[in-house]
Amino acid sequence: MQKKIGVDPFTGGTHRMTSDEFFYKNKDKFDCIFIDALHHYNQVKKDINNSLKYINDGGIVLIHDCLPQNIEAQSVPRTTIDWNGDVWKAFVEIRTNSNLNTYTCFADHGIGVILKVGVILKGKNENPLNLNIKDYKKLKFLDYYKNHYEMMNIIEYEDLIKII
Ligand SMILES: C[S@@+](CC[C@H](N)C(=O)[O-])C[C@H]1O[C@@H](n2cnc3c(N)ncnc32)[C@H](O)[C@@H]1O
Repeated sequence: MQKKIGVDPFTGGTHRMTSDEFFYKNKDKFDCIFIDALHHYNQVKKDINNSLKYINDGGIVLIHDCLPQNIEAQSVPRTTIDWNGDVWKAFVEIRTNSNLNTYTCFADHGIGVILKVGVILKGKNENPLNLNIKDYKKLKFLDYYKNHYEMMNIIEYEDLIKII
């Protein structure tokens, strides 16, 4: 990898700042952006939209923590050690965008995958989510619990690497 950076306001990485501060100043484009920061719906949504502005054609945006195992793991504010937050809600929302191909890899805590339609895959979004909700933050864990395979478009790692 020619150039690799990490953004975190408190620890590790190469840039000691929030993701908002980073994207405000950023002029670079990236082949791969991995989002694993503040696990709150509003922030993840911002991080996804900013990432899509700075991803190269043919690049990939990955989002950690898309598959919470139980209601506590996705509660905001945080109440458990193992915590995914409500990242899943931001991913459900982005899944409704027909210009993107979106999957959730069934690995670790669920890795959301975003590819721009027509760049890696030809044609249109092959599995869009047809949902029209005003405020995705108001989604309930029960909706996710009952429908997560379709909502998140879950894919096994072995099948995902055939696509990317
Ligand atoms: C689950 S940890 C992941 C750390 C790192 N990605 C790693 O794998 O080691 C989440 C990190 O997000 C950072 N964080 C919290 N709010 C953030 C924000 N607004 N922008 C960027 N990073 C943030 C925290 O400081 C924390 O280190």
